Amino acid sequence: MKKIGTILLAAMMVLSLAACTGGSEPTGNSANIEPEPLQSSAEESPTPDEEPEGSKILVAYFSVTHNTEGVAQKLADGLGADLYEITPEQPYTDEDLDYGNSGSRSSVEMNDPSARPAISGSVENMEQYDVVFIGYPIWWGEAPRIMSTFIESYDFSGKTLVAFCTSASSSFGSSDSALRSTADHAAWLDGQRFPADASADDVLAWANGLGIQ
Ligand SMILES: Cc1cc2nc3c(=O)[nH]c(=O)nc-3n(C[C@H](O)[C@H](O)[C@H](O)COP(=O)(O)O)c2cc1C
Repeated sequence: MKKIGTILLAAMMVLSLAACTGGSEPTGNSANIEPEPLQSSAEESPTPDEEPEGSKILVAYFSVTHNTEGVAQKLADGLGADLYEITPEQPYTDEDLDYGNSGSRSSVEMNDPSARPAISGSVENMEQYDVVFIGYPIWWGEAPRIMSTFIESYDFSGKTLVAFCTSASSSFGSSDSALRSTADHAAWLDGQRFPADASADDVLAWANGLGIQ
């Protein structure tokens, strides 16, 4: 009889122990729910390497007496852009530039819209640029024909193009219209004329107002 009592007591102890440690799921106790790992703020915000980069800009210019070159340099310096000089295969002499002579090289070229003076060299890897500034002197109210040679040498699709010029007195006018019609898959912004002695502040005030990121 004593033995049976001992067995019953042992069985009750086993059952009560099982009730305490039993494998039933916790209900309604959030403290037992594993929290989702939170993303640290360092992971959410981009590291400096991931910051979106600004546009890659090229300033390409043609200049015989260095007026346009000065503006182009100020532009490239201020924007942190690459600079490329459009160099004619055959340099222009003073006689070539004589606009008082209808037989001079510049007069003959400007009287022939299909003239395409050859360029020496080329822009390396034009694909890398998002924005190309195109500078030239006004010749007879227009961009010199060598600028058409330049524009026709590259595919500017998807790029932003913006012309600038220097002149004795003429305004920018429609001096870039022949260039626009050639590269009509590019996004052209309004161009600007500068005097030969334009200041860096004036040049950059214009460039920074174009909305280029
Ligand atoms: C052939 C030729 C034609 C020109 N035609 C004009 C013109 O129509 N209007 C004007 O204001 N200046 C005219 N100019 C003056 C130039 O546009 C001006 O001197 C310009 O700043 C020169 O730029 P560069 O030094 O970069 O070559 C002409 C100059 C040359 C050589």
